[in-house]
Amino acid sequence: MKDNSVRTPVKIAVGIWVLALLYPANWLLTDEVDYDEGVQDSRVTDGDEQSALNGPIEVSVRGAEPPTEVQAAGRPKPKPILQPESERKLPESVVVAKGKQLFTMNCVACHQLDAVGKVGFAPSIGNRDFLSLATDEFIRQTIRNGRMGTAMAPRPDLSEQQLTAIITYLRSAPVANPVKVSVDWEKKFTGDAEAGADKYGRYCAACHGTKGEGYAAGVPGTGIGLPGFLSTVSDDYILQTLKLGRIGTPMQPFIGSRGLANLTESDGHDLIVYLRELGRKNVPGSDREMAVKGDPKRGKLHFDVNCIACHQADGKGKVGFAPSIRNRDFLAIASDDFIRKTIRNGRPGTAMVPRPDLAFQAVNDIIAYLRSLPIANPVEINVDSTLTFKGDPEEGTAKYTKYCAACHGNDGEGYLAGVPGPGIGLAGFLKSVSDDYILQTLRQGRIATPMKPFIGSKGIANLTVEDAHDIIARLRVMGEENAGGQAAGQ
Ligand code: HEC
Ligand code: HEC
Ligand code: HEC
Ligand code: HEC
Repeated sequence: MKDNSVRTPVKIAVGIWVLALLYPANWLLTDEVDYDEGVQDSRVTDGDEQSALNGPIEVSVRGAEPPTEVQAAGRPKPKPILQPESERKLPESVVVAKGKQLFTMNCVACHQLDAVGKVGFAPSIGNRDFLSLATDEFIRQTIRNGRMGTAMAPRPDLSEQQLTAIITYLRSAPVANPVKVSVDWEKKFTGDAEAGADKYGRYCAACHGTKGEGYAAGVPGTGIGLPGFLSTVSDDYILQTLKLGRIGTPMQPFIGSRGLANLTESDGHDLIVYLRELGRKNVPGSDREMAVKGDPKRGKLHFDVNCIACHQADGKGKVGFAPSIRNRDFLAIASDDFIRKTIRNGRPGTAMVPRPDLAFQAVNDIIAYLRSLPIANPVEINVDSTLTFKGDPEEGTAKYTKYCAACHGNDGEGYLAGVPGPGIGLAGFLKSVSDDYILQTLRQGRIATPMKPFIGSKGIANLTVEDAHDIIARLRVMGEENAGGQAAGQ
């Protein structure tokens, strides 16, 4: 496992360059954040406090004694694969601070403060036992590839440097009673799948789902029967987890006299062989299911597993963090196809990561769910996506600065600038919307969010349609600048 992924620096450099082109905004915005800023008082922290009040996410109080099970240390120093000259000499404390900041922006919504995780939602990855079993390369691959069919979306957009910082941060907390385990990443066990199935049903199914599907089945454990998990772990990783358990989580040791079920190693082998079989069966359904109608009930389940961490209960969003996607005006302006493409392609440079891994059926279910939520005073808005307006970007600059920058960022970079509005100057957003989508948003606003109508006498700024065309022209230029700047930023 470790050796497979050792590549030559040249290949990596080319890979990163290509990724930076594909995910340019993130390269520019996330990687270049000042090390000294935003770690203590970032906007995400504010958001977390808010979510503790009205969202489903539990957040532990900052500054409390960190629980011992999340402490980890004494691991070999992670070896950065590729770092520019300027990064190489950074003291560890700076890398840890940067890792913490990246973790806060990209991971905390699910893995929680100090990476303690939340049972039934996202595993603890600051866990002593997890960190002793997982190599840096394992964590790296998990972040890069995600776990297909779970909320753990792939993040090919994060640079090697950023991954190193996150891993260094995870490994930086001091550990009580450290354990040392070495995992064999090559060894394959043979066993009896049928006997394994029997034991799985008796000892594991209640917590990991009858098909190993994990959280999506409403159980406390992860999707250990899903191909995304099984393709990253070795047989021995699973065996060692069964011996060790995960301190501080419901996952107890199962093998040996200290084990919950006093299983033998050979029982473990049977279980592993059975899990491998489950993995082959659990390959997600094909996209040909597209024609199938979405089901709002199933959609709620998919939504709760994949989207709720950011978009909150019922998709009501959180200002400064993730927009409301059950919003009356949003749903009137956004077509199903628009929502589908946003889910598939994400919004590069923001926390909205692409989800090419979700089955069409799941995506259609989510859309059906969003559309099924009750709406007061529904409105109907027609967006003509074929229209293009001919505004003046130079005129638009002053108007954008005056009316929009405070909420969307000087360069339209959105939440990452610590402002309440999303990244409307980013290439990912601009590529997915028509001029008329933006115009109609300016006319209509987004009810019950800080985004008010701006055009006409009901609008807060009494802008004319021509003003709006100028602002749209300015946004289009911004999108190119952001994309171009990112490519040039190489
Ligand atoms: C939207 C929620 C979400 C976000 C955001 C998220 N994760 Fe995850 N992560 C999960 C879930 C759910 C799993 C477990 C999936 C499964 O196997 O069932 C997981 C699994 C993992 C694992 C494997 C843990 C194990 O026990 O094997 C690692 C490592 C990990 N995530 C790291 C990260 C990092 C680093 C980030 C930020 C860059 C991140 N995740 C962002 C939801 C999330
Ligand atoms: C009481 C509930 C419970 C039972 C029973 C249970 N597990 Fe777990 N298991 C969990 C939880 C919860 C986690 C994730 C730990 C966390 O949240 O950080 C986990 C994690 C794991 C992991 C690591 C997954 C990863 O993403 O890295 C493996 C492997 C695993 N369990 C295998 C098994 C097997 C095999 C059995 C049956 C012998 C079993 N578990 C029984 C709750 C359980
Ligand atoms: C008071 C703060 C504020 C101001 C001023 C503001 N916006 Fe917004 N805008 C928001 C918020 C917040 C949202 C996201 C709404 C939500 O949470 O659902 C938004 C959403 C939008 C969207 C939809 C984005 C998407 O992802 O679909 C567009 C387009 C937009 N604003 C354009 C503008 C323009 C152009 C201006 C200047 C004329 C402007 N906004 C001024 C706060 C503001
Ligand atoms: C890790 C956080 C996160 C997760 C998980 C997430 N999103 Fe998002 N989403 C965002 C952010 C942040 C934005 C706004 C990005 C921007 O600045 O344009 C967004 C934007 C969107 C938009 C565009 C809204 C608009 O106003 O134009 C849609 C639609 C959307 N997300 C749907 C989903 C769905 C469906 C899921 C689950 C499959 C999901 N998202 C999961 C963070 C997330």
